[in-house]
Amino acid sequence: MDFTLTANQQAVAYLVSAVLFIFALKGLTHPATARRGNFLGMIGMALAIAATLLGAEVTSYGLIALAVLLGAPIGVFVAMRIKMTAMPQLVAALHSFVGMAAVLVAIGTFLNRRAAGTLDAVLMGEISAGIVIGAITFTGSVIAFAKLQGIMSGAPIKFPGQHALNAAIAVATLLLAVHFAMTGSLWSLILMTLLAFVLGGTLIIPIGGADMPVIISMLNSYSGWAAAATGFTLHNNLLIIVGALVGFSGAILSYIMCRAMNRSIINVVFGGFGTGEGGESSAGAQAAEKGVKSASVEDAVYWMEDAGKVIVIPGYGMAVAQAQHALKELMELLEARGVEVKFAIHPVAGRMPGHMNVLLAEADIPYEHVLEMDEINPEFASTDVALVVGANDVVNPAAKTDKSSPIYGMPILEAGKARQVYFLKRSMRPGYSGVDNLLFYQENTSLVFGDAKDTIEGMVNVLKGGGH
Ligand code: TAP
Repeated sequence: MDFTLTANQQAVAYLVSAVLFIFALKGLTHPATARRGNFLGMIGMALAIAATLLGAEVTSYGLIALAVLLGAPIGVFVAMRIKMTAMPQLVAALHSFVGMAAVLVAIGTFLNRRAAGTLDAVLMGEISAGIVIGAITFTGSVIAFAKLQGIMSGAPIKFPGQHALNAAIAVATLLLAVHFAMTGSLWSLILMTLLAFVLGGTLIIPIGGADMPVIISMLNSYSGWAAAATGFTLHNNLLIIVGALVGFSGAILSYIMCRAMNRSIINVVFGGFGTGEGGESSAGAQAAEKGVKSASVEDAVYWMEDAGKVIVIPGYGMAVAQAQHALKELMELLEARGVEVKFAIHPVAGRMPGHMNVLLAEADIPYEHVLEMDEINPEFASTDVALVVGANDVVNPAAKTDKSSPIYGMPILEAGKARQVYFLKRSMRPGYSGVDNLLFYQENTSLVFGDAKDTIEGMVNVLKGGGH
């Protein structure tokens, strides 16, 4: 029996997939609907793959089957083993594949169409776009991966004349792309491809590891445009639609992240902002020297067990410590004593969008306990204890009061308005921005030093009557 789809049948299947992808994106905008969104995306992708494989243009399945047999187990293995904190570099690695695929498909199409004598200027323009965007995405993503994985230093690498060099490479690449589209010269194609690979690297090298999440979202956007260009080359409407969805959603996400940090994308791309780690290293003694109060686990529990309301503010340190399950237990013990417990999420808490939501969901903390910044901020003034778990910048009042601070203007969670503030962190080191936290010095603030998971487990023990 012949299962080959007609062009119309394939177009209908692609349209259904595209609609499913749009619903998937919609679902992914809220933790409560994210699973459903993912599921719809998976159905859309399965349908898209099936419709492509059954299309008239696929004439043999041997190589495709081989690629699936080799690639799928690697994908499953990596997805099962990846830690939540390593998600940004996995995403970077996956973007690099999209970039390289766009380059290879474009070159393959050029060679095929040249052999068939069916090249034209429009097609060569599309091929140039696919190659240039794809190559920049590839090397940019590889550098982002290397910085986040620690293979390369996360510090911004800068040298004099860097911007001029990038501009010169960009102009030369563009000229070669125009020359290629007009003449079909193989040499222009090769040089353009090489220069675009170099440009991806030189654009990303000066950016600090700490700014990588925004860059990854930007590269996500580029990978979408590369896919859309490939869609034009292959006359594949679904690839064009999906590429545009990815391109725009990546761009919007980069914008949202920049706005939540009160920075412009230009500042991220050219700024060389704090490199994340650094600052002083020891805890208690330095805290005292700086006029910061340190407290014990028992002190914090003493305030929390009789509180009317506790708001937990999770941050990057909760992800590092993997403290979310211990937090869930703490929440249940406090609730059993009649304490109202809520979680306050800052839009850029952690290192990637939705980072905290994903971790809290993993620990089955009910969504109705988890509130966004604008919803929860008015509640701090009527809160007994703000428990800051591995968060730092997102509660720093310097963002509101210190005009000279690099984070000035960033909206914050107003934890300082609670009656008592407890920070759970390991040292006096600053957070991602490298800026000292003014909230440490406030009268009602104490720091409980230690790994967040250990500290919360200690709190759970005290509440269970077992002592610390
Ligand atoms: P940060 O300001 O980076 O602070 C994290 C804190 O966690 C640090 O002070 C660190 O102190 C502590 N910590 C690390 N490991 C810990 C552990 N095992 N146990 C306990 N504490 C630990 O985090 P934040 O408040 O979540 O703010 C996020 C920052 O990242 C913002 O500046 C934001 O602009 C930036 N950023 C976010 C994103 C997205 S999309 N979320 C993207 C790019 C940049 P110790 O070392 O003393 O323990």
